[in-house]
Amino acid sequence: MAHNPVETHYTSQDLGQVILAALKAAGKDIDRLTPDDLAPVDEFHGGQRPATIRLAELVGFTGSERVLDVGSGLGGPSRYLAWRYGCRVSGVDLTAEFVRVADMLTRMTGLVGRVDYRQGNALDLPFEDMSFDVVWSQNAAMNIADRDRLYRELCRVLKPSGKLALQEVAAGPGGEPHYPVQWAREPGISFLFTPEATRQKLETAGFRVLAWQDTTEEALQSAKRRAQTSAAAPPPLGTHLLLGDDWRAMFYNSARNLEEQRTRLFNAVLERVS
Ligand SMILES: C[S@@+](CC[C@H](N)C(=O)[O-])C[C@H]1O[C@@H](n2cnc3c(N)ncnc32)[C@H](O)[C@@H]1O
Repeated sequence: MAHNPVETHYTSQDLGQVILAALKAAGKDIDRLTPDDLAPVDEFHGGQRPATIRLAELVGFTGSERVLDVGSGLGGPSRYLAWRYGCRVSGVDLTAEFVRVADMLTRMTGLVGRVDYRQGNALDLPFEDMSFDVVWSQNAAMNIADRDRLYRELCRVLKPSGKLALQEVAAGPGGEPHYPVQWAREPGISFLFTPEATRQKLETAGFRVLAWQDTTEEALQSAKRRAQTSAAAPPPLGTHLLLGDDWRAMFYNSARNLEEQRTRLFNAVLERVS
């Protein structure tokens, strides 16, 4: 049972079974699943796997890092980091159903012991101070109003000089987003800040910017392609499986919001300095 409006938004019945059936329909060997097989469905953010690769390259992982993924969803990015680089990754997410499915997919990809998940709130992380070399978060902050507290919490669990890797949806100059979008059916659980305001909050929380990339154009092209290819018949495996019956409107609005500059997307890598 979901306990708050954000968790309710992301919770759907029998998600694990729905994904298993879709994997079979897509011709995947579910006894030999790889993170690549899952990428169309478990990378639940703008730009999907290519966006994860871009952010990971910006961080420059060596493989020895202890990583925390905040708002880890079904675990696509965290499994990718463990699989591709050899990092040890923990994920934390508010949505219990996502944590259950992330555990299931991690068992099915043979990554138990390298990746783990727990349910928790990014505003009150269940980890000791200075536990991680890298804190990673993609498309989760737009559901979180108290960004000052969020960024302080991300700073707290990082080791000194540790890195924060972010992919975030930001407010653009074009006005309020059209709803529904993937993260909200109505404005009550959507909290967007401009890139400039976000940067200021991050610096106040104790970070120094190492790299900041506006990825709006890449996200727009990817959102347009997805809205077009899904319009007629969606592929068997895709993030529409995680959304409700209004997923077509969400895909359409994602592209429209980026195009009309109601939303922007950025990647950032920052260093803990305090
Ligand atoms: C769009 S999904 C992104 C999932 C994942 N980061 C990915 O890119 O595949 C947003 C996720 O953020 C999680 N989330 C939202 N608010 C949160 C909070 N306060 N604490 C932890 N997780 C949160 C949601 O449950 C959801 O799984």
